Amino acid sequence: VPVTDVIDVCMNLGLMVSINQRLDAETMALVADEFGYKVEFVSVDVQEVIKEEEEDKPEDLKPRPPIVTVMGHVDHGKTSLLDYIRHTNVIAGEAGGITQHIGAYSVELEDGRKITFLDTPGHEAFTAMRARGAKLTDVAIIVVAADDAVMPQTVEAINHASAAGVPIVFAINKIDKPTADPERIKGELANMNYLVEDWGGKYQCQEISAKQGLNVDKLLEKVLLEAELKDLKANPNRRASGTVIESALDKGRGYVATVLVQNGTLHQGDIMLAGIYYGHVKAMFNERGQRIQEAGPATPVQVIGLNGAPQAGDYFNILDSDREAREIANKREQLVRMQSMKTKKHITLDEIGRRI
Ligand code: GTP
Ligand code: MG
Repeated sequence: VPVTDVIDVCMNLGLMVSINQRLDAETMALVADEFGYKVEFVSVDVQEVIKEEEEDKPEDLKPRPPIVTVMGHVDHGKTSLLDYIRHTNVIAGEAGGITQHIGAYSVELEDGRKITFLDTPGHEAFTAMRARGAKLTDVAIIVVAADDAVMPQTVEAINHASAAGVPIVFAINKIDKPTADPERIKGELANMNYLVEDWGGKYQCQEISAKQGLNVDKLLEKVLLEAELKDLKANPNRRASGTVIESALDKGRGYVATVLVQNGTLHQGDIMLAGIYYGHVKAMFNERGQRIQEAGPATPVQVIGLNGAPQAGDYFNILDSDREAREIANKREQLVRMQSMKTKKHITLDEIGRRI
């Protein structure tokens, strides 16, 4: 129908609109009704506006490193554990010693085995990040401080891991402290129906001191055992796909996205589509800031070249052409805009009545 007719109908409904104005969902339905049409609103998953990638053939699959997420209550020692494993000191650089984002680290053990670790925040405000971490992971380490107790975010982390169907290994930390009481923690876990192995249950558990590095090797053995049971594989010889862990605008470098490659291999120069943004991968860095040319399955990598900051949790794919990437990105953006319109406050029928 001619735009002028639509505007006329809107006027009759008491809406003063101009030609380039967007209507909210309810008004659209009303206006369409005036023309004898019924509007059907479809909820669209933005991620789905992409061609289904073909499945890997079994012979193309190669073993890949496990992705292990460290979760637990605030201050129970998650980052300290990873700092010990990585011989680094990340907590020293954290504001107030509190982790506020997901850290992703690729670690090579002395015997050459590799593990990809995700560090999650324990503060109660970061539920979404814990849920995301649990979804991305193969094995969850739940850290509980032996001088404290099973706390709300310990329970929450256990629930996220269980909901995602991820095997759990408990790390009872801070056993170097005089007030540490690991048996009490095991009792509390038993009360939640999480019976650890030395209490006759099925959950692997290791007492550790992240600060002193005590028994961390034993913990890693248990984690790797759980991972081996899953026979983790991926196809390194295909286009990369994976998940955005975080992204930000860096003053010097532009948009920087940390992504986790879950299948395939990401190469410099690839045309990446992540959420509603896209661009050529101009440069890639590992978590130590070293420039790399490619990143295989289960590798976290910082990517420069996207035209915006995708949301944590968005998937990324590699496409053939700029044009294709741009088209899908635009389509997704439109969908996102329409969906936010639908949730915006709009005029009720009642209000329209009053205006007339
Ligand atoms: P969030 O990320 O904020 O949830 O905390 P976190 O779980 O990462 O804890 P973090 O590693 O930052 O450690 C919290 C505090 O506990 C720090 O002061 C650490 O030095 C201390 N700590 C961690 N592990 C141990 C340990 O094994 N023994 C002792 N004595 N202190 C520890
Ligand atoms: Mg931390």
